Amino acid sequence: MKFCFLFLFVNVIYNSDATFCGCKAVRETYEKMLKELTEEGEVECVSDASIGSSTVWVFLAALRQYSELLLTVKSDDLTFEGRYLHEVVLNIPRDKPEEEDSKPIIVLEAGQEGGVEPVGFALYIIEQLLGCKENEDMLKTVKWVILPCTNPDAMEYGRWSEATQLRLWRKNRRKLEEKGCIGVDVSRNFDTNWGACPKVENAFSSVYPGKSPSSENETIFVKQVLEKYKRHIKAYVSIRRNGHAILYPYAHAKNLHTDAQLEGAAADITAKVNQRAGTVHLFSNTSIFEFEDKARCGHSVDYAHSLGIPLSYEMRVFLGSENHILSKFQTLPRGYENTLRMGYYNGIRELYNIVAKERQYGKNKL
Ligand SMILES: *[C@@H]1O[C@H](CO)[C@@H](O)[C@H](O)[C@H]1NC(C)=O
Ligand SMILES: *[C@@H]1O[C@H](CO)[C@@H](O)[C@H](O)[C@H]1NC(C)=O
Repeated sequence: MKFCFLFLFVNVIYNSDATFCGCKAVRETYEKMLKELTEEGEVECVSDASIGSSTVWVFLAALRQYSELLLTVKSDDLTFEGRYLHEVVLNIPRDKPEEEDSKPIIVLEAGQEGGVEPVGFALYIIEQLLGCKENEDMLKTVKWVILPCTNPDAMEYGRWSEATQLRLWRKNRRKLEEKGCIGVDVSRNFDTNWGACPKVENAFSSVYPGKSPSSENETIFVKQVLEKYKRHIKAYVSIRRNGHAILYPYAHAKNLHTDAQLEGAAADITAKVNQRAGTVHLFSNTSIFEFEDKARCGHSVDYAHSLGIPLSYEMRVFLGSENHILSKFQTLPRGYENTLRMGYYNGIRELYNIVAKERQYGKNKL
């Protein structure tokens, strides 16, 4: 088997001062995996790999083989074009089974609106959690459920398209026989307030929400995971491309009351992202409704919030060259993507700290 996107790593690891892919110290099993799988000329870190659905598959297959105790991968669900929807669970069980039962869960989900950037970031988080020794506590205290690529058909379609508009393709690729066109916007296909926005009946629209809620395999997949773990999920983050912000519910309406827990935690996460990445562009926090400047219905974050998941967020990453944040004239510093990635990761670690320490904001308890 050839793991071709992996690793030119051998030179780096024996150079003791070098930090490896952002780790201070590499875990032995991970080191063994890299040693056995790397061929010369291959990239070492997932952040250097070119991201596609085969990268996801190969990366997870390699990990499954080498860190079986820390990770399970479930790939039972399929998209229209026959790609897998993966559920990755990272966990170091606690010694006492009764403590294990009540362990808090963080769910990270990436790529619902297509694009490679969120998927690359999700793989980077997996690499950091599994590969770095110093992150062991993060696996002992919390169980991580990561859905690294929840709309792979859109990602692949956009990846091979020349035209900007098609690179931004966000819907899945299901053939809608009755309409004679392709794709439903998964990010508007969840049940919560699905019908509350002005109706989009035109199935050629890039925001066509489907004939009914939960009509898509991708939607059903995310829902099943949230349902399965909901009793212990403390945080759900939907990582999406184009933008630079953490956004809290609601999407379908303006918030009438402040939720001290949601907003306080978002502000702390924002500060941590800006500590690292604020020089590139200021990361911000607000509600999804206010970010969009209009209602968005059938949103997965509103859905998660309605299940009682206290910290439910959308996180927009990597700016995006074609969106409203960056004007054509703004130039970015060299290596800015690495800076952003480190910033976002710092934010995820802050989320972990909030969950692990049961940090309280206002009167609410997590
Ligand atoms: C949905 O998933 C099922 C089972 O995984 C699969 O058989 C089917 O082809 C998928 N359908 C669509 C439209 O994606
Ligand atoms: C984050 O949100 C708080 C209010 O909850 C606000 O005061 C602060 O300015 C926001 N920060 C950024 C950078 O958006």
